[in-house]
Amino acid sequence: SGPDWVPLKQDWNKRWCTLPANYIEDFAGRIDAFETRESDVFVVTFMKSGTTWMQELAWLLLNDLDFEGAKSSYPFHRSPFLEYSLINPVNGMDSVAMCNQIQGNTRLIKSHLPAQLLPRQIWKEGRKIIYVARNPKDVLVSSYHQMKGLAYANGSWDEFVDQFVTDKIIYSSFWAHIIDFYRMRNEENVFFVTYEDMSRDLENVVKRLSLFLDCKDLSVKEMEKLLKHLSFKNIKQSKFGNPTGFIKTVRKTTEDFEFMRRGIVGSFKDELSLQHQDKIDKWTQSILDEYGLIESDIF
Ligand code: A3P
Repeated sequence: SGPDWVPLKQDWNKRWCTLPANYIEDFAGRIDAFETRESDVFVVTFMKSGTTWMQELAWLLLNDLDFEGAKSSYPFHRSPFLEYSLINPVNGMDSVAMCNQIQGNTRLIKSHLPAQLLPRQIWKEGRKIIYVARNPKDVLVSSYHQMKGLAYANGSWDEFVDQFVTDKIIYSSFWAHIIDFYRMRNEENVFFVTYEDMSRDLENVVKRLSLFLDCKDLSVKEMEKLLKHLSFKNIKQSKFGNPTGFIKTVRKTTEDFEFMRRGIVGSFKDELSLQHQDKIDKWTQSILDEYGLIESDIF
């Protein structure tokens, strides 16, 4: 086991991002030149921030609440992952080609790439972006379980916390990723929301997102059904909503892994030592100070 990518630091518009070593050679050009369509919607996040939850919600809004469709295929198939083949080369799937093959309805495309590495046309043409941010300690805990469970990493908490705060985890720097979108939160084509907002008041997020996506107003009954469908309990037990088995097969791992793990805000409180929490808080503060922000402004 162990990581199957070599972390690489790239400098692009004075932004750093840790990515697989073959990124520039095999992907950067294709992703940068990716042809977007007017109706495209991108769901962009740092990993483990509630991406799949948001994909399910946005897909349902964009597809006239097609619950039957949502219950009969994986979120990945309805809403492809732009750079999937980059982080999961074992699967042999060309994810950029897969996005291109989609015909018909609005494409809902997922990406964990930071702003500066997303397809250039998104910015040039003002394509719609839904950005979900989540607090760093819960992202770290969720990522740790995913990395271990899918055999990408096998180190200790100590090592993982250290890698997280020194930008050695894929897609980091975590804060640069969020701050770029936080600063764009009032742009017309950007919908900035947090996992914490979704946990606190999902109905409100649904209403705001529905407006952003130009979808029809939902009746009281439709809203009830949608909120029930999106609940952690429901998604965890649904065959296609919960991609645990699918991911384990693709990763060829038998490790103990659960994609729908806890689904709460603050799981770090009983999973991270106080020492680790303190290390992350100090790191957060040192970065946010530079931007004149405080963590509670965002979450
Ligand atoms: P935890 O590991 O903290 O439980 P992503 O989709 O970006 O990989 O994010 C995965 C995280 O979102 C996991 O967090 C997962 O449990 C949580 N999640 C997925 N669906 C959810 C839902 N319906 N409600 C709340 N949390 C959800």
